[in-house]
Amino acid sequence: MRKLFFFSILVLFSLTLFLMWFYSFREFSFGYFVLLILGFLTVLGIYDSFQTKHAILRNFPVVGHFRYILESISPEIQQYFIESNTDGRPFSRNIRALAYRRAKSVNDTHPFGTQRDIDGEDYVALRHSIYAVHVKDEDLRIEIGGAECKQPYSASIFNISAMSFGSLSSNAVRALNLGAKKGRFFHNTGEGGISEYHMQGGDLCWQIGTGYFGCRDEHGNFDAEKFKEKAARPEVKMIEIKISQGAKPGHGGVLPGVKNTPEIAHIRGVKAGTTVLSPPAHSAFSDAEGLIDFVRELRELSGGKPIGFKLCIGRTEEFIEICKEMVAKGCKPDFITIDGAEGGTGAAPLEFSDSVGLPLEPALIFARAALEKFHLKDDIKLIASGKALSAFSILKNIALGADACNSARGFMFSLGCIQALRCNTNDCPTGVATQKHGLAKGLVVTDKSERVYNFHKNTINAVKELLGASGHHHTSELTIHDLVKGDEMIKLANRYFPDTVNTQV
Ligand SMILES: Cc1cc2nc3c(=O)[nH]c(=O)nc-3n(C[C@H](O)[C@H](O)[C@H](O)COP(=O)(O)O)c2cc1C
Repeated sequence: MRKLFFFSILVLFSLTLFLMWFYSFREFSFGYFVLLILGFLTVLGIYDSFQTKHAILRNFPVVGHFRYILESISPEIQQYFIESNTDGRPFSRNIRALAYRRAKSVNDTHPFGTQRDIDGEDYVALRHSIYAVHVKDEDLRIEIGGAECKQPYSASIFNISAMSFGSLSSNAVRALNLGAKKGRFFHNTGEGGISEYHMQGGDLCWQIGTGYFGCRDEHGNFDAEKFKEKAARPEVKMIEIKISQGAKPGHGGVLPGVKNTPEIAHIRGVKAGTTVLSPPAHSAFSDAEGLIDFVRELRELSGGKPIGFKLCIGRTEEFIEICKEMVAKGCKPDFITIDGAEGGTGAAPLEFSDSVGLPLEPALIFARAALEKFHLKDDIKLIASGKALSAFSILKNIALGADACNSARGFMFSLGCIQALRCNTNDCPTGVATQKHGLAKGLVVTDKSERVYNFHKNTINAVKELLGASGHHHTSELTIHDLVKGDEMIKLANRYFPDTVNTQV
């Protein structure tokens, strides 16, 4: 191939020179342009042949570059030319289009009937009632805060899931927060701490991860005084201890030195330019007893704001142990967020995303059953995250045991995310998940905050319609038996959790 390349260049070179001579050099100025290109290709070909990193380029000089060019645009080729309306991953074209239309407040109806395989094994649906009812707006809010909470929070049943400033751009965070403010739903800060972009007036759920960003001492451990100061901010309505997330349970985060700008370093309370690790586990506790003590400590330090924790379920016995500890200590969190293994992330090792943690459906059934078994459910709200984007997915999660849902990627779509799958490269073309100023400035905050607001509003309207069709006035009336194949889902959960808890469902 190498020989063929150089032979072709030689032939083209000679042919061009011959044509230039034939038409006289001054008349055939196009020939100089061709010579320039041939010269460039020759240099590139020589470089490719002698470099040692890429076998493809050594063996196929110049043309080998097409492989890399095509590979770099393969998500676009896949999305624009290959995927059907229903098979895109992680989100199908139909679901993405639903989010876009709701965000733009344009016609969100679907023509001609379902494209899903409703005879297939995966089909789950809502059992509707002959006697549909009208659902009121106020019936789609829940109160978060158990007996020990002094500042309960009235939450929407649909909120923005944790995403840090750092994984998202400053414009994206501002747009999310402004949308949350207008729509009266909460915005989870993500584990990167509270930035000025989170302070646009929207309600915040402040997430505390293993890096304790915003409340850490110089050794990276939890700093009670710093926590107390930030938790007192009026925007902070709830506090969430992040134990794990579905896309990478048991894996810590890494903020590379190059992305650790002075601004991000200031917000996180770390040194700029250094690589910052979020360890896989907390240093403030290492067992169920320690976790419950930490919940109590945060509640006291925050003046009684709702305290919860987020996890992806792995070992069921560990969750049961936490329940037992709550009973023994007489201390309960106000909410628990269950994140499914199908959840998203800015960046994670593939093995963790693909092969660790339990999917949301069985995890939710189990968590609900466990809390009920230990008589804890009345004080603890369950929040579900993991592809909760359409009205049906929200109601399905509630029927399986959740009280409310959070969405990360749904709200990213409302900001204009096109599922380019570049969150981990800092090259997000829509300015949503990047720190490059040139890309982030493409996201216009005033326009996109309105879309965030619309997406929430129109999704809640769809929830109202769907809930009404099921014959229920309030989401708390939904049970697993409102789902077609609900009984099969219980069997599935029992397969994942063959302990006694689920037999009570
Ligand atoms: C860009 C991005 C950043 C995220 N950052 C965090 C984070 O800081 N803390 C966290 O607990 N989860 C984080 N997550 C996970 C989400 O909060 C959520 O649990 C998960 O994506 C499931 O929801 P989804 O399917 O609606 O995206 C992130 C997800 C994405 C897509």
